[in-house]
Parts: sequence; structure tokens; C-alpha cells
Amino acid sequence: KKTIKDIDVKGKKVFCRVDFNVPLSGTTVTDDTRIRAALPTINYLIENGAKVILASHLGRPTAEDKDSFKMDPVAKRLSELLGKPVAKTDQVVGPEVDAAVAKLNAGDVLLLENVRFEKGEKKNDPELAKAFAALADVYVNDAFGSAHRAHASTAGIADYLPAVAGFLLEKELKILGASLENPKHPFTAIIGGAKVTDKIGVIENLLDKVDTLIVGGGLSYTFVKAQGYEIGKSLLDKDKLDLAKKFLALAKEKGVNFLTPVDTVIADEFSETANKDVVDIDKMPEGWLGVDIGPKTIALYSEAIKKSKVVVWNGPMGIFEMEPYAKGTEAIAQALADATDATTIIGGGDSAAAVEKFHLADKMTHISTGGGASLELMEGKVLPGVAALDDAE
Ligand code: 3PG
Repeated sequence: KKTIKDIDVKGKKVFCRVDFNVPLSGTTVTDDTRIRAALPTINYLIENGAKVILASHLGRPTAEDKDSFKMDPVAKRLSELLGKPVAKTDQVVGPEVDAAVAKLNAGDVLLLENVRFEKGEKKNDPELAKAFAALADVYVNDAFGSAHRAHASTAGIADYLPAVAGFLLEKELKILGASLENPKHPFTAIIGGAKVTDKIGVIENLLDKVDTLIVGGGLSYTFVKAQGYEIGKSLLDKDKLDLAKKFLALAKEKGVNFLTPVDTVIADEFSETANKDVVDIDKMPEGWLGVDIGPKTIALYSEAIKKSKVVVWNGPMGIFEMEPYAKGTEAIAQALADATDATTIIGGGDSAAAVEKFHLADKMTHISTGGGASLELMEGKVLPGVAALDDAE
């Protein structure tokens, strides 16, 4: 795909889609990671004399609650990070926006209101896509986190303007995409999280690529059950049990080392203050539930990580939001941090939050800014926001 480096932006109006879908507390941005991740592209546009029109969604606003999803706090934080004023419109498109764009000089930055305030955004309405395109000369997509959405500002607009990738989108695709397409070996993937259902496509795709597949977290108990063990009150995706069996058989067939927990932390209820114990996986008592991987499992998984050249991680190993059940997730984050010879990639969402929480973020090769987008990439899917861009010559 073409990138921002392939085009001349001097004096041009650039419509740049970013993913500023950041957490807010009232009107304060509580985590500006995604804003900071877009700075290289924004600064490049400023330095090269573009008139920068930024657009993003924020949250999932409805007609009733949209006031709490306005972009003003984001504009304020961006302005602080850039060290220069950022104009902000209260409209997404319309006369106010046209006037603000007309006022832009080379190097100025304008942020539009939340694109999801327009009904046509999520529907990828061509009328809205055309209205976005009419504001600018060039379209830059730097919103990796939204690249799995085929919306007017992430995909539709590319039909009407020269369309290229920004630096963040390029970097995400290079690191995560290349590791998946052309992996160095041994290649290990760690898949956690609550539900098998959410990770079916990922596991299926990875079984063709990895040497070792590790599962943890809620979804791993379905795999434990699939091996014939009792799992008490642990999470079970009943209708995915046969699929779990199939995956285990497939792994064997393909020579993939499929690692499942060999011991587990258990609790007698879903609560931080429950009674706790650690048992081998074939000794889970009735009425208790698995809440984290146990020490033997930590050792087994850490050993596999140590031997890897590439490790991709998505999803926690236990209920890491509850302090007593965070050890497994922390230990895996630490094992990745210690694997200094390996490329370590954190696939967004909860695992990115976990790595931040344990202060290990700077020890990883790459932490993706996309949750859903990185999962779809791991499923081997083409992301609509990427597909829509112009092909490199
Ligand atoms: C994300 O946070 O994963 C992206 O910003 C996409 O948000 P969405 O799931 O509301 O489309």
C-alpha cells in the first residue's frame, strides 16, 4: 500500500483518520496512548506544510448520550502534546466545518467532531464519504485500531481521494502483519481471555503458522474439559467443546505444540475474597472455579516463551483485574519482558492493559493500538481500512 511518504502533502488539505477512541473520565483523557501513537504522522504533516484535518470516532454514542462523547477533551490533550493550538469543530461535516477548513494555513491542525455523530459513518454511507472527501485533497488513514471497520471515514472516503497509510498504520501492519505472514521460528502464540467463541478464528489461523500455541484464561477450561478433565464451575463454552477437541487433534496432526494449563488457581466463588487453592488440572474439585494459571503452568509456559524467536500475546491468563488472580498474567508478561532476543508483540486490548499495569510496556517490541483490529489481523482477515488504500506502484 502507498504511504504518506509516497505523496506530496505541501499546501494540501489532508483528511487524516486517526483512532482517538480513548478512555475518558468526565472531560479528562485518562490514557493518551492512542493520541501519542498518532503524533509521528501528525507532526510529519505539520512539518511538511499540510493543512491537517483530523477525524476520529470516540466510543459508541447514541442519540441520548452523545454529549459525553464530544471530542473537546481529545482536542485539548492533542494540543498539549503537539505544543500548538488545535482547532475543533462542533460539527462533523457542514458549513461550520467548511469555514474552519477554509481558514487553515499550512501546518495548522483541525479536529472534527466525533464522526459517529453522523448516522452515515457506521453505515459507510457514500454521501457522508463524499462529504468527507470534499473537505480535502488527500486521505491518510492512520487509524489502525479502527481499520477492521468499513465505515465512511475509515474506508468509504478512499473511493473519492488519493488514499495512503500513515506511519502508525504502516508500523502496525509491518510488525504484526509481517510476523504472521513470514514468521521467524520458533513462533509462539499465547491466547487468553474469557471466551473460546471470540478466539475461534484466531486459533484456527494460528494453527497453520505457529510452533507452539498456548492457551490461558477463561477459555482454557473448555480445552481442559475437552481433554476429559472435570472443571467444576469454571467457564465452559459448552457448544464449543467439540471444536476445542477438533483444535487439539488438528494441532497434533500439524505438529503444533498445544499447551494447556497443567495446574490452576481455584476459588470457591467469583470474588476477590473467596477461599483459594492451587490444584493439578486433573484434581479440580466440584463447585470451585478456575481463576488463574498455577505455578507449574507458569513454569511450562515461561520455558516455551524463552525458546521462542517471536511471541504474540492476546488475552489475559486469569481474572487479572482481581489482585489475587493476577499472578499468571503478570508472570507471562514478565516472561515476555525477559525474552530479550525475541520479537514480542502484544495484541491490544486487555493484554496491552496488563502489560501497562505491570510496568513492562517498554520491555516489549510492540504493543498494538488495536484490540479488534489486531485480532482480525491474527485471524488472517483483510482489514477494510487497509484494503481501501491505494496500492503501491
Ligand atoms: C477500538 O477501540 O477497538 C476501536 O477504536 C474500534 O472501536 P469500536 O469497536 O467501537 O468500533
